[in-house]
Amino acid sequence: MKEFYWDNSATTAMSRAAIDEYGRVAETVFGNPSSLHRKGVEAEKVLRASRSFLSSTIGAKEKEITFTSGGTEGNNLALRGIARAYGKRGRHIISTAVEHPAVLNTLDQLKVLGYEITLVPPNADGSVEPGRIREALRADTILVSMMAVNNETGSILPCAEIGAWLKSNASETFFHVDAVQSYGKMDLDVRRLGADALTVSAHKFHGPKGVGFLYLREGVRCQPLVFGGGQEQGIRPGTENTAGIAAMAVAAQITLDARPAMERLKLFKEAVLSGLEKRGVEFEVNGALGDSVPYILNISFPYIRSEVLLHSLESVGVYVSTGSACSSKKKNYSHVLRAMGLSEIRMESAIRLSWSDYNTGEALEEALDRIEKCVTELSKIMKRRK
Ligand SMILES: Cc1ncc(COP(=O)(O)O)c(C=O)c1O
Repeated sequence: MKEFYWDNSATTAMSRAAIDEYGRVAETVFGNPSSLHRKGVEAEKVLRASRSFLSSTIGAKEKEITFTSGGTEGNNLALRGIARAYGKRGRHIISTAVEHPAVLNTLDQLKVLGYEITLVPPNADGSVEPGRIREALRADTILVSMMAVNNETGSILPCAEIGAWLKSNASETFFHVDAVQSYGKMDLDVRRLGADALTVSAHKFHGPKGVGFLYLREGVRCQPLVFGGGQEQGIRPGTENTAGIAAMAVAAQITLDARPAMERLKLFKEAVLSGLEKRGVEFEVNGALGDSVPYILNISFPYIRSEVLLHSLESVGVYVSTGSACSSKKKNYSHVLRAMGLSEIRMESAIRLSWSDYNTGEALEEALDRIEKCVTELSKIMKRRK
């Protein structure tokens, strides 16, 4: 049976080229990049080439890139590192209620340490008004943290607008962008964004899991989370994951080279929506279709519990998600949909479909037929129960 993996916001399959690069480096460039002999120099060369390429993809300098274990660590390092380095200047941080738990739970920890957090709520369509961020700014605000794209609804947040505004009105306030769901898919030039820090994770763009990078603008102080040798300028000590980093650079290159992918995905998303409509499937879109990315769609099939539908779809080879992968095992509803003020019925029946360019060549009609079949069968059961 042909499988449809429609859960690319949770993670992606590694590309063939990234797997090959991982294997090549793991096998042949196994030296410690800090070693002084030839094996170390070879490994350091791989790191330098990867750092150089990756920095160029966001308009940064090589020394502004710190390799990490992915998005969770990048967000923790940026938020805790900057907050603690500048705690004497101020203790107020602004973010939004729709951030990933890697930001929200980190902010909770900072609260325990005496920082004050303002979380700006979204509108009912998942969008965040720049005016509300501006209103929340205080003289003691040291940091604003915002995701570029929401991982559950695909809403695009106004990062460039906020970054530019902060640069001209509050230059002492740092700006962190969680770019985990947007890297390689939209323009993320850090100067244009006005970003002082930006988090990237490789497994969201067909790279390996457990590797990513954090951009930190030159001059921004960031206290390390762990202590050890002086690797990564002492900001993130520990022997670097050379093979993972090299594979991440290859995956990034492929993703960026495939830029018309966004056009293909736009047509794909439209075809999914019109295909469901044509089949007479009852659904509601969660979030605005306008200000959202073409590779994430959050929809509710009224009265069908999302978990039940997820497993029904799984049985016919279609893989989707209920909210974010990290929270989907818990019973409580998505904090994002809740913050948007959606009804209980809508929240309990919400499914996230997320694609990559790997999906755009798929037999879409076949996937939609399977969805229609599952939704129709489950609705009949639900109606019988009512
Ligand atoms: C917006 C966002 N930030 C951070 C993360 C965490 O990234 P990682 O899985 O690399 O730790 C995710 C993962 O889903 C995410 O979607």
